[in-house]
Order: sequence, then C-alpha cells, then structure tokens
Amino acid sequence: MSASDAIENLAHDSRSFEPNPEFAKTAVATSELYDQASNDRMAFWKAQAEKLHWHKPFTEALDWTYAPFARWFADGKLNVAYNCLDRHVEAGIGSRVALYFEGEPGDEQVYTYSTLLAAVKKAANALTALGVRQGDRVAIYLPMIPEAVISMLAVARIGAIHSVIFGGFSADSIASRIQDAHAKLVITSDGGYRKGKASPLKPAVDEALRGNNCPTVEHVLVVERTGGDVDWSEGRDIWWKDAMHAAHEEHVAEAFDAENPLFILYTSGTTGKPKGILHTSGGYLTQATYTHRNVFDLKPETDIYWCTADIGWITGHSYVTYGPLANGATQVIYEGTPDSPHPGRWWEIIQKYGVTQLYTAPTAIRSFMKLGRAIPDAFDLRSLRLLGSVGESINPEAWMWYREVIGGNRCPIVDTWWQTETGAIMISPLPGVTHTKPGSAQVALPGINAQVVDDEGNPVGNDHGGYLTVAEPWPSMLRGIWGDDERYVDTYWSRFDGQYFAGDGAKRDEDGDIWLLGRVDDVMNVSGHRLSTTEIESALVSHHWVAEAAVVGAKDELTGQAVVAFVILRQDEIADAPNEADLAKVLRDHVAKQIGPIAKPRQILVVSELPKTRSGKIMRRLLRDVAEDRPIGDVTTLADSGVMGAIGNKIAGGATD
Ligand code: WT7
Repeated sequence: MSASDAIENLAHDSRSFEPNPEFAKTAVATSELYDQASNDRMAFWKAQAEKLHWHKPFTEALDWTYAPFARWFADGKLNVAYNCLDRHVEAGIGSRVALYFEGEPGDEQVYTYSTLLAAVKKAANALTALGVRQGDRVAIYLPMIPEAVISMLAVARIGAIHSVIFGGFSADSIASRIQDAHAKLVITSDGGYRKGKASPLKPAVDEALRGNNCPTVEHVLVVERTGGDVDWSEGRDIWWKDAMHAAHEEHVAEAFDAENPLFILYTSGTTGKPKGILHTSGGYLTQATYTHRNVFDLKPETDIYWCTADIGWITGHSYVTYGPLANGATQVIYEGTPDSPHPGRWWEIIQKYGVTQLYTAPTAIRSFMKLGRAIPDAFDLRSLRLLGSVGESINPEAWMWYREVIGGNRCPIVDTWWQTETGAIMISPLPGVTHTKPGSAQVALPGINAQVVDDEGNPVGNDHGGYLTVAEPWPSMLRGIWGDDERYVDTYWSRFDGQYFAGDGAKRDEDGDIWLLGRVDDVMNVSGHRLSTTEIESALVSHHWVAEAAVVGAKDELTGQAVVAFVILRQDEIADAPNEADLAKVLRDHVAKQIGPIAKPRQILVVSELPKTRSGKIMRRLLRDVAEDRPIGDVTTLADSGVMGAIGNKIAGGATD
C-alpha cells in the first residue's frame, strides 16, 4: 500500500484517554526525561548509560565519524551478562526471582538472580571448554525454556556472538543462517511442548548440518526437554546436562569493548536473502534497559512482568532477556501456545503469578477477542496494571477490547513501535504522562528523533502523511548487516539523505501524534512477524512446477496480513501435477519446508499471466486489490492492460486452497 492510499483508509479515531493518576508519581520523573533529552541529547544518553555497570567508564557518547556506522560509548568497557546478573547479586538481591518458568504441560521452574547467575557461569565455562572464544558465532535453536535465556547470557558473558533462530524455521533456513554467520556451535534441544504435545527440534538441526553442509559447526549442545528419541552424531553432539555437569562453577566476567558484537538476528528484507542484523553491547543494553524501565513503568521490587514473545524474535531479545534482567525485574516465561490445554491458559498464568505488566501482539489480542470475553472474565486479572502492544498497528477495536476486558479500564496501554534494526522501543506513549489514543503509537521517546517526511525527506506538518524516518543516531541502532556493509547503507541510508528510513508509512494527526500505516516496501507483516514477498516468491519458483510467482500481503482479520501467492505454472513440467487444490497444498508445504510454517501462503492462485509494468516490475498493488476483493486500481502503467481482467475472472471462479 502506498503511504497516501493508507492514509485515505485510516480510521479517524478521536478517542483519547487521560493518564491514570496512579502513575502520577512516576510520571513527574518520567516527563522530565523529555526536557533533559531536548536540552542535551548526548548528556541524556550518557546519563542513561551510566545506570549500567562499566568496568571501564566511557568518556564520549557518540562517535559518528564513519556514518552511518555508529559507535556509542566506544572507549568504555562492560560485560553484558555481568550487568544482567552479577551486579544484582552483589547488590544483595540475589534471592529475588528472575524467572518463573511455566512449561506447557504445567511443569514449573524458578530461577532467582543467584541461581540464574550460577547456571550462566557454568554454561559460560562449558562454552569455553568447547573452544568458543570472543567473537565466535553460536547459533541457538531452542524453545522458550530457561536454557534459552541461559544460553544467550552465557554467550554474551564470554564476548561471543549469538544468532538465535526461531524454532519455527525450517532446516534450510537454519542452514543458511549458520552458513552466513559461520557459526561454530549450535545449541538446541530434543524438542519442546507445543499445542499439547512434544514437538521435536533436533531433527531440523541434524538435517541442516547433514553431510558437510555447514562445515564451520564443530559441536551441537543438546538440552533434554521432552525426553524424545534423538539421532546422535558421536563426537559432534553433546548433552547440555553433561557439559554443565563437567563445567567449573566459578567464572569471572571479563570486560569487553562497548562495541563488541552481542548478537546477529536474521530478519526478512526486500530480497530473497535474510539480513543478519548486527547489534553490539553498550548502546544496545543502555536503550533496552532505559525503555524497559520507563515504557513499562517498572517497579522491580514488586512487579511480575510478562512478555509473551519468543526469544527467536527481537522482542524476546530486548524485552525478555536483556532489558528485564538488566533492570533486576521478576518475569514469567511460558513455553507453549495460548490455547493449551484450554483457551484461558494465558489468563490462568496471569492469575497464578499475579502478573502486573503484559506485553503482547495485536494478533493475539484479536484471536482472544474472537473467542469472546467469557474466557478471560473467568480469571482474576486484577494484578495487571499496564498493558503493552508490539509488532503491528493495533486496530482501535482491539485496543478498546484490550483496555476494557483485560485491563479492566484501569491499565494504560503502551503501543510500542520499533524494529529488529532499532534494537529497542523508539515510539510509544509513556504511562502516566501521555494521553493515549487507541491505534496510535504517538510520540518518539525522549532521546529519539523520529520524523514523518515527504518524498524529498522534508518533515510533513500535522495532519499529513509520509515516511517514517529517524533523523539522528540512537544507542541501540543496528551497527550493520553481517558481512554486507553495502547492503546496510543501501537499505537504510540511501532513500533520504542523512536519515534512517524504517520502511514504514506514517501519519501525524492534528496533535502531531504518529500513526503507523504499515510497510511501504515489499515486506509483509503476518501476526507481527516480518516476511519478505521476494523470499516466498523464490521459494515458490524453486519448485519445478512453478515458472513465476508473485506474493502479496492481503489484509487478514486475525493475522493483520496474510500471504497470498499468484503462480504461473510451467506447462512442460506439470504432467505430474495434481488438481489445483492438491497442487496448492503441495506448494504451500514446499514453502514451509523452504522457509518455515509461518511463511505458508494462506491462498495460492494459479494464473496465466501476472500484471507487470513495461519495465517488467510486478505490480503487487493490483494483485493486492484482487486478494483483498477490491475494485482494481489504476492500470495505465501495465504493459498489457488485459491481464487484470483475466486474473479477476480466475478469482471469481474461486481457485483457492
Ligand atoms: C516492523 C518491524 C518490534 C518487534 C516486533 C517486530 C511493524 C512493529 C509496531 C507498532 C505499527 C509496528 C513495523 C516495523 N511494527 N511495531 N507498534 N505499530 N507497526 O519486529 O520483525 O523487525 O518488524 O513491525 O512495520 O517496521 P520486526
């Protein structure tokens, strides 16, 4: 959707909610942050960074000499894991609970800051014993179990770099990520519990490593979670528990440069190849910690915080592992799906642990809305005092339902806009300060310079739409794309001179508040997860039946967008192809195998031609009109204006999966 189309479609919602007076006390301090940041942005960020423990203090905030390659707090040294664990134990709060783990079958584990530190020290020693050193890459492919957090922190503790791969990705996706990063070690598990049953994970790793497919991998550490059968590669595979058992208990955290890489996280771009987004240590931890404290109004002594994101996504990095632990928070992590064994499982967890802050995605809220309020109403949710949303714009109806049914009309809602690339929250209301508006992420946080600009890169006025950019560097910004500096510059810094372009369209309302309007590039957002149209198209054409494919994100009531694919078949290859319904199934499964089940198209439509411009570019806008059942827009730039008629007829015939 072009930014201007989306602005036309935007619901004009004029509701607004006053800040909750209970937050007033924190709010005074929080609102001062805006003044401090606008008076002296660098002094403001230094003050935020100084809340961390620096083994060697920094003297300068930002070095922008090699723009757009930023260096923050570059002459300082710190240890990220020390900041998340040791310093809390040394400050005397070692007995505070860090993690309440709830397994899907109902098993529980509790880690205090002391016991989590002990586990991370042992894991750090185990990794060192396996030859992992500063700067080495470690791939992590685990379910949401404590070992996921422990692994990340152990890698960070020894100055190595983790690359967490979401458990829903296929063997091919694992292999390409391992190959791109030259990972030396993989940490996985036999499986995890999902939807009421044990679901294996290790087979995907085994397949990814088969033959000499990933020659850099020396060992695979395997956590035992389900007790299911696993294939074993002698010499390569090692049980996590054996490695932990053999490891020394003591481990002194070494100080690393602020710019020491912390992790790579792959995300979809506009081409077929995922981008390895690189984050480093000091700046990243500064902003993850600052935002987690202020956006969620964190009271670490009394709060029980719960972010439902998986560690496979950036939200799980910044708001499960690093932000909350650096702030000494107590949090819940849950392994399974929201509906196992019953549709009230999340509300039961909130009641059981007395959760105070819930941070989740609009797609989840919409699916609960669909099930009806009787389910959450059966649980005591009065412990909740703040609600957060992330991943896509939250539609005003879902926002209101979240506020009324889950938040009992008393909890502020923070709609947080950010990206894998930004590392931490950039735009969000602040509880107790901002008058919230259903559907709007509203204001840039103190210290962040977000802009809505026109085609020339000039800021638009109020009541106008355009492109969302960030006009000045920020501490948790990506430092590049792993192994591809040129792509980093081209993708983010070449559209508008001197500004980071986020890929999103946005609008400023009459008060100047920001409303996000979705991507303006070939990136889709399905259930808050980023998918590339091009990547799915490449997956489809890798099947021998398919000559050409065009993929669009069509509006979907539940998932925000859904993947709809248009394919042209190779007449010389389809002798063995079944009827259209079965063919669509085979192709959908093929995409799942190539990328992962999350990328499966909702619909596959067989067509004989695709709408293209005279220069050969597929006009996805027109296909989106078809997929969303709208009248087809302007076709004057089509090379062959008859094509859309043919496609329209085809849809009328109902060729869906
Ligand atoms: C894209 C980034 C940030 C963690 C989860 C997704 C969309 C994210 C919002 C929001 C409107 C949002 C944007 C952005 N997005 N949060 N509150 N309102 N849109 O991370 O996979 O890097 O995706 O998600 O389109 O560019 P990601």
